[in-house]
Amino acid sequence: MAKRIDDFKIVDNKRVADDLFILELSSDDKLPEFKPGQFVQVRADNSPSTFLRRPISVHDVDYEKNTFRLLIQVVGSGTEVLSKLSINDMLNLVYPLGNSFSDPNPGDKVLLVGGGVGVAPLLFLGKHLISIGYTPEWLFGFRNKSRLIDLTEFSAIGKVNLTTEDGSEGEKGYVTRHTVLAQNQFDRMYCCGPDPMMKAVADYCIRNGVECEVSLENLMACGFGICLCCIVSTVKGNICTCTEGPVFKITDLKW
Ligand SMILES: Cc1cc2nc3c(=O)[nH]c(=O)nc-3n(C[C@H](O)[C@H](O)[C@H](O)COP(=O)(O)OP(=O)(O)OC[C@H]3O[C@@H](n4cnc5c(N)ncnc54)[C@H](O)[C@@H]3O)c2cc1C
Ligand code: FES
Repeated sequence: MAKRIDDFKIVDNKRVADDLFILELSSDDKLPEFKPGQFVQVRADNSPSTFLRRPISVHDVDYEKNTFRLLIQVVGSGTEVLSKLSINDMLNLVYPLGNSFSDPNPGDKVLLVGGGVGVAPLLFLGKHLISIGYTPEWLFGFRNKSRLIDLTEFSAIGKVNLTTEDGSEGEKGYVTRHTVLAQNQFDRMYCCGPDPMMKAVADYCIRNGVECEVSLENLMACGFGICLCCIVSTVKGNICTCTEGPVFKITDLKW
């Protein structure tokens, strides 16, 4: 798919947790067809220490309104600058980038697993799965109640199962200990979150014969296969996460 570089207008910037916010962006041009799992490279203007663009997943797309949303966690200077954008400010993006999650097999029982801001690409995936006839279920892990985001849009799609590390909301502990896994046999899981979480989910899936794809959030610079700073080791050799990923089958990764 052709890559574009365009300016988008901020139509909303909403704080959804202590350090998380959602940007809604609109364009005068018709949006291209985004695929679940793809990302954009965002230019963080007016941040002297942020020379490189920042990769951010497509959180949700509304083709009728010609808008899409990004769910972003403030972790450094680039995301800090983005968090301060106002309505009508412009944001320059390279898009759409990366591959996408693949569809499940017919009849598969599907679980989408997200940790923290790793839930970002899963909402768009969940809506896609609904549109092709699946009823996905969610399993989310957050550090504690104060890190939770509003899950209304997720629960409108499927049942939400929740863990927090301190037990302040949902079941206590990591996602791989949630009772939903003991009580169900899923055929297909999709996961995005911190590396240790994705590795634990991958380990569970291999032990239980579940097909699984993860979306990696490796450090990136260019975002389209030039700088080689996002290399990941796979059974097919060392490949770029930005062009061959960010979505990988767990059986392809040499973790
Ligand atoms: C394909 C892809 C999709 C992503 N999607 C999202 C998303 O939807 N929402 C979101 O909030 N973030 C997402 N990220 C992570 C996001 O790109 C980084 O958090 C961001 O670039 C940090 O920029 P910064 O200038 O604020 O922080 P920096 O000053 O660059 O870094 C601050 C701290 O964050 C760490 N950090 C930076 N980048 C990453 C990363 N990729 N993974 C883990 N730690 C990192 C740094 O090591 C440092 O400790 C994604 C990353 C990738 C590769
Ligand atoms: S980020 Fe430059 S090659 Fe992947």
